[in-house]
Amino acid sequence: MDLKHIFDNNKKWIKEKLDVDKDYFTNLSKGQSPEILYIGCSDSRVSAEELMGVNPGEVFVHRNIANMVPNTDLNVQTVLNFAVRYLKVKHAVVCGHYYCGGVKAAMQSADMGILNPWLRSIRDVYRLHQKELDAIEDEEQRYKRLVELNVQEQCINVIKTAAVQKAYKEWDFKVHGWVFDVKTGTLIDLKIDFEAILEDIMKIYKIS
Ligand code: CO
Repeated sequence: MDLKHIFDNNKKWIKEKLDVDKDYFTNLSKGQSPEILYIGCSDSRVSAEELMGVNPGEVFVHRNIANMVPNTDLNVQTVLNFAVRYLKVKHAVVCGHYYCGGVKAAMQSADMGILNPWLRSIRDVYRLHQKELDAIEDEEQRYKRLVELNVQEQCINVIKTAAVQKAYKEWDFKVHGWVFDVKTGTLIDLKIDFEAILEDIMKIYKIS
């Protein structure tokens, strides 16, 4: 299969946009001021903009395997810092998804080479919540809960950064944990109670 259809699609898309607004791309070229930072999984089924129904310019997007926010990953930390410090987004979203291959792989006893250190952070999430997860007998439900808890822990990783702690003080800034259910197409707000979670741990992680 060649990729000709991609370029045909692009021509069609340009025409659709210009038919509605002849200045569409000229306006896009002037700059961006998105209010949302979205950190999601690279999974091809979880297309950030499409599932949220947003247009170009509305969401600053970072995607990696299993929507992780490791504190030593220069890529996600750069995106996060740029979005918060320079774009001054109002919302940071970590969006996981059920049936995540990354989360599933982390739970299997297999040597995945270079993926090992990346997936180890998910094993750490399991260890942090081992009691709750081990109590779930149904395997599918246990995976789903791990997906949710991973989102929660990555949200906490977002809050551990100085940029975000400063944003909390300076403007109306919020962190959100969401999950996309591939089976139904539903986007679920986990409604994580950050205040309760952070009360204790901010004694450790407060830097700003
Ligand atoms: Co995934």
